[in-house]
Amino acid sequence: MSSFTTALDAVLGHLEVTRLHGRTLKASRSALAALRASTETVPTLAAPPAPPPVAASAPSAVAPVALVPPAPVQVAPAPKPSEPKPASAPAVPLSKAERLAAMRSRTASCVLCPHLAESRKSVVFGVGDPDARLMFVGEAPGADEDVQGEPFVGRAGQLLTKIIQTMGFARDEVYIANILKCRPDTPGQSYGNRAPTNEEMQTCLPYLEEQIDIIRPEVLVALGGTAVRGLLGGEPKITSVRGRWHDFRGIPLMPTFHPSFLLRPENESKKRLTWEDMLSVKERLGLEITERERRYFLPKAAPAGE
Ligand code: URA
Ligand code: URA
Repeated sequence: MSSFTTALDAVLGHLEVTRLHGRTLKASRSALAALRASTETVPTLAAPPAPPPVAASAPSAVAPVALVPPAPVQVAPAPKPSEPKPASAPAVPLSKAERLAAMRSRTASCVLCPHLAESRKSVVFGVGDPDARLMFVGEAPGADEDVQGEPFVGRAGQLLTKIIQTMGFARDEVYIANILKCRPDTPGQSYGNRAPTNEEMQTCLPYLEEQIDIIRPEVLVALGGTAVRGLLGGEPKITSVRGRWHDFRGIPLMPTFHPSFLLRPENESKKRLTWEDMLSVKERLGLEITERERRYFLPKAAPAGE
């Protein structure tokens, strides 16, 4: 990414955080148009072209978004004395929600995989509680997710939602994200999905790692082989790693089957194994498990005189 784009990202991220703090900046329509045009016309320069009235003197060094505020933005008219200084760093540490929101706005314009940026309808960032104790990681958005901009909303997503609810959580109490934020393209094909390539995974993984570093869930669940390979590396088979605890940067990680796999009729019996993995997760979170829950998905005992 060019240093100009990085600097612009930093400015946009900072503006997002400023907005989250309830402060707004006034900029003229022409200033905003100049800023927008600069993103389209200057992909490789280190500094903006004709100095627009907003966001001049952007730092040329790579600046982490949101944590190191970029150069002050020109504000017109001058703020009232009672208003906090718009460009000053927030006095309190940013919340997880604020950091995720800033990150979300930064990833929305990602073009690191040009072919996916071209074919996608949305960047599917993630959904759920930024303070979640439990985080699920899937593979990549499918067609439904691409349209709605939210992970796991199609058929597999409905099964994942059921699994989450059966564990005793609401869907919005956990956090859900994917290894890849864009739908893998399928040129010349009007239906179907393909698995992410290694290159796509390596390109996108830093985003997921940043999300995990912000949320710091107590437990991670990797759904299916791609999620396991992305988070743990190597080429492990899901059948040999599921059901056992792994470690991702100090966070306990439980691999389990992907919901799409469970939807195939021949894999019906794997639902019980997935459920056992989820019971381990509940235990790890210190949550109570009822006897009834322990029996879910077990073959029914022969009906006794019923
Ligand atoms: N499958 C995934 O792995 N992720 C989604 O978001 C949807 C389906
Ligand atoms: N292969 C995968 O990648 N995931 C599964 O859940 C099962 C097989």
